[in-house]
Amino acid sequence: MYTTDPNATKRPAFELPTLPFDEDALEPVISGRTMAIHYGEHHRTYVEKLNDLVQDDELALVPLDELVRKTAHMPSRRDVFNAASQAWNHHFYWRSLAPGGGRLPKALLVRVNRDFGGYEQFVDGFVAACVRQFGSGWAWLVLEGGKLEITTTSNADSPIVHGIPPLLTVDVWEHAYYLDYQHQRETYARKVIETRLNWDFAAQNLRDQ
Ligand code: FE2
Repeated sequence: MYTTDPNATKRPAFELPTLPFDEDALEPVISGRTMAIHYGEHHRTYVEKLNDLVQDDELALVPLDELVRKTAHMPSRRDVFNAASQAWNHHFYWRSLAPGGGRLPKALLVRVNRDFGGYEQFVDGFVAACVRQFGSGWAWLVLEGGKLEITTTSNADSPIVHGIPPLLTVDVWEHAYYLDYQHQRETYARKVIETRLNWDFAAQNLRDQ
């Protein structure tokens, strides 16, 4: 987990969280090689960059989610926001995935049926959102106005900046799928959504609202 540290000048304020599964656990949908680079290089770099940027800075004392919300409205600290939000989004993404994913608890299936008209409609809608997002970004299942909804954000943006609770996310930056699927974002998205989404995590996030 991310922690804040009052002695931030002595050791990093933010830590790379451990993966909730082995790097090759999501194969064949997401390869171990992709995970090694995505988690071990991209995510790690966001955290290291964030620590560099907030060194000797009072922002190092702010919990990560608060830091994301705070710096979203600080144009002069855009670099901090980008690193912090990407660190937060990736931690949320890993927890949105599971080797035996794709199975909905009954209570969530009822909500999905009610708000999307059926599970297949939800899958098609979530895949379409992943494809529709132009350039780098994220597709999200969120809770908005008491309803489940699908939304997307660009680059490092996150629903938590906009006061919208996320339940699940799919990373649609090219680094998430290019090694395994090249330009075929739709194939990656459909396989992840159908077989690797961690609905227990979604249910936990729903309960926390
Ligand atoms: Fe990513």
